[in-house]
Formats: sequence, C-alpha cells, structure tokens
Amino acid sequence: MEHLYEKAQESAEYIKAHTTKRPKIAVVLGSGLGNLTADFSETEELPYKDIPNFPVSTVAGHKGALLAGKLGEKEVYALEGRFHFYEGYSMKEVCYPFYVLKLLGVEQVVLTNACGGINREFAPGTLMLLTGFINMMGTNPLIGPNDERFGPRFPDMTEPYSLELRNLAKQTADELGISYKEGVYLGFMGPCYETAAEIRAFAGMGADAVGMSTVPETMVCNYLGMKVLAVSCITNMATGIQTVKHSHARVLEIANQAGETLCRWLGNYDSGEYEYIERDGFSIDRVECVYNWDDSEYRREEEEEEERRREERRMWNEN
Ligand code: HPA
Repeated sequence: MEHLYEKAQESAEYIKAHTTKRPKIAVVLGSGLGNLTADFSETEELPYKDIPNFPVSTVAGHKGALLAGKLGEKEVYALEGRFHFYEGYSMKEVCYPFYVLKLLGVEQVVLTNACGGINREFAPGTLMLLTGFINMMGTNPLIGPNDERFGPRFPDMTEPYSLELRNLAKQTADELGISYKEGVYLGFMGPCYETAAEIRAFAGMGADAVGMSTVPETMVCNYLGMKVLAVSCITNMATGIQTVKHSHARVLEIANQAGETLCRWLGNYDSGEYEYIERDGFSIDRVECVYNWDDSEYRREEEEEEERRREERRMWNEN
C-alpha cells in the first residue's frame, strides 16, 4: 500500500474528529464474539465505510464498524469486524486498522478469534490464551519497503503476546473463576479448512489451535510497538480430530456461547495503569527468565571455540 503513513494519518484524523474518546486499548472482536460491545457505555460508532482509506468487511458474522466506548471506567476502541487474507485483501489491508490505532495513541491490543482445536485436551467452547504463534499463512504483512516512522525493518518477535498482559488476564480469570487453557495458535491462509494431513503436521509442529486470522495482526502490532493479548475460542476440533464435517454456522453458534464468558473475562480484565518494567527490551518476567537461564555450558563451548581459533592463529603465524 503506497503512502501508508499518510493514509493512516488521514483515517486517524477522521476518527479523532468524529469521536470524543482517546482510548489506549483496542479490542478486535472475532467471529461471533461481538457481544462485548453490549457492555459499552457512551458508545460512538463509526462504520468502516465512512472512515477514509478503511477496507470494508465482507464475511457473515462480522460487522464493519469502529466503536469508541467505555467499559467500566476505561475508554476502549472495539473493532467490530476484521479483514481476512482469504477475502482477497492484501496483507497490508488486513493490518491497516492497526497502523491507524497506533497513530491514535493505542498502546495495547486485545485480539479475539474463533479457531479449531488441535490439542486433544481442548474441547469446543474452550478459551485459549495465546502464548505464541506459528505463521503458516505463506506470507508476511511487513514485506515491502519499510517506513521507519512506524517500526524497524527487522522487528523482534521474542514476546509476541505480552507476558505482562497475559499475567493480568490470568489473574482476572482466576478471580472470576473462568477456566482457560494456554497454547500456540497456528495461522492458516484459508479459506478451505485444513486437511487431516495438515492438522497432523501442525500438531507435530507444536500448534494447539488453528485459525485464519490473528497472526498478521500480531506481527504488525509488535512491529508498531503495541502490546498484544490474544484469546481464542475453540469452536470445533480441527479436521481429522472431530469426526463430522465443518460448519461455519456451528462455529458461530459455539463462538456466541463461549463469547459470553469471554466478554465477562475481558469486561473485567484490568489492563492496568500498570507500570511496565522493561530491561534490555524485554518485559520484566521475560528478563527474569532470560537472566536466570543457565548458560554456563553455552559459554564454555564459546570459550573452547575461541581457544581453538587462537590456537589455529598461533600455528598459522608460526608456519
Ligand atoms: N480451522 C480454521 N479456522 C477455524 C476453524 C478451524 O477448524 N474453526 C474456526 N475457525
């Protein structure tokens, strides 16, 4: 997308001019998970089609509007309807709203989605907090010339889902008695559901769940320096694990049911006026784990290697 920065600026200016709120947190509502905004107050709604340069959503079950509202005391943006690669949008279009959110001053993004369970310990209706992703979408939204005003050429993906936010979400779930699993989400291009052979391969790769969104958005939000929390609703077991054929209607039905719990969870999730403690570019939990990592063996190997190189140089100079 040419002139992405200027286009995103134009979208952001329009949103600022037509809303009074300035949220620091945005929630993306996946298939059938739209109920969250029912708990919003003082809602201001902007249809995507009215926002300059915004793509328009085409899938049943996905509305197409940006909402600015209050959830309790907190101001929140909600994206009702996302853009999928399988709809024919370019990856830059799929991720366009996040460039706009960044320019609007958003710092945290909560992504939700409906997906298929690969991990056999999951059942339809399970809520899964994402710990990581595997990109099997065959491309990457950050391919192309890089605009340094947005982020670096080679973005780090060490902590795609913020440990800080995950801990806050887990705390909320525990307080509310909401059960959840944690796992790795694999992004599949779609729009066909996966084959049973693909699911066996993905299980071997370490995926717990599979879906057709979330991964590009996660990459772009990290690139833009926004923290990401993501929650999946397992609406069905993946191909070959469940014995019946897939049905999008069933996906929406389960997402709607589990969506109620998800709404209760996110509605009470305290994204915190937390103090974000960072060292060496990692959040503090990650730092503890990096700094406590026993790397003595690794260091010994490095020293042995260096000694070998010194010895080689010595022999080379002597001859
Ligand atoms: N595969 C991919 N995407 C999905 C699935 C699935 O099984 N269920 C809901 N979204």
